[in-house]
Amino acid sequence: MIHCEGLVKIYKTDDLEVVALQGLNLTVEDGELMAIIGNSGSGKSTLLNTLGGLDRPSAGQVKVGPWDLLKITEEELVQYKRDTVGFIWQNNARNLLPYLSALENVEMPMMLSGKTDRAYAKQLLEWVGLKERMHNKLHQLSGGEQQRVAIAISLSNRPKLLLADEPTGSVDTTTSDMIMGIFRKLNREIGITIVIVTHDMTLASKVDRVVAIRDGLTSTEFIKRNPNITDGGDLIQSAGRNLNSVHEAYVVVDRVGRLQVPKEYLTALGIKDKASMEFDGERIVISSPKSLGGSGNE
Ligand SMILES: Nc1ncnc2c1ncn2[C@@H]1O[C@H](COP(=O)(O)OP(=O)(O)OP(=O)(O)O)[C@@H](O)[C@H]1O
Ligand SMILES: [Mg+2]
Repeated sequence: MIHCEGLVKIYKTDDLEVVALQGLNLTVEDGELMAIIGNSGSGKSTLLNTLGGLDRPSAGQVKVGPWDLLKITEEELVQYKRDTVGFIWQNNARNLLPYLSALENVEMPMMLSGKTDRAYAKQLLEWVGLKERMHNKLHQLSGGEQQRVAIAISLSNRPKLLLADEPTGSVDTTTSDMIMGIFRKLNREIGITIVIVTHDMTLASKVDRVVAIRDGLTSTEFIKRNPNITDGGDLIQSAGRNLNSVHEAYVVVDRVGRLQVPKEYLTALGIKDKASMEFDGERIVISSPKSLGGSGNE
């Protein structure tokens, strides 16, 4: 569904260039439910906005389904946003109309694309648990209920990919659990691919896979496959700093073959300025020179 390779996004302001993503790699399979975690400023929203066609990539590869978002034309982009992706923002105000009912809010984007389908709009509201409230005006609904309306809206164009930026950022734990439950159900039942951006490490235990972006500037992406989605504690630690368990990390290899080894790995192995490298025909093993006995000082 998603393939990013060496994805670079540079924001240019008057006299400043911010490299928000520097060579990020990410592959998401069709039908996955996954989360992207990372510190503030690590480039999560930049990545999501790029995938959603709201921001243009600066360089690298970024493909979503059949679309190449680096080469896509403005017209195709309109079509892409309308047909392929659904987007949920942390701040609902961006796509909700307070004086329309929940149902009218869901129908609005359908109307704009000329395909109003009231039955489907009702079904969506039922999916997000708002069957009883669909005729209430938005401003009569709680923040969590509004967020669920936003989820229904994001699905109104039957997207193949759902992108959610901090969807539970401003709701309590119960609502957050409910929203995650909705994502899971949608993912399992209609097979939609879902990418959730979050600060919240506990959400990580509720998805199939977690990718942690550590500082878009260092172009390092860590991937932790979820060994057991009910085992939240372990996952949270692994996605954070604990590197004792099995994990996978992707790093960017540049044109001349340089790659950046994550600092934690180097620290864990006590590698300072020199490392040994072995190639066995299939894998490259980087180890501390000490661990190879006699060749330690070479
Ligand atoms: N429109 C923009 N113009 C200039 N710089 C930007 C713009 N948008 C983001 N940035 C910068 O790019 C970097 C990544 O920002 P981004 O919003 O992607 O981070 P984030 O991981 O989503 O953070 P948060 O968790 O706080 O939402 C930051 O240094 C930010 O200041
Ligand atoms: Mg953000």
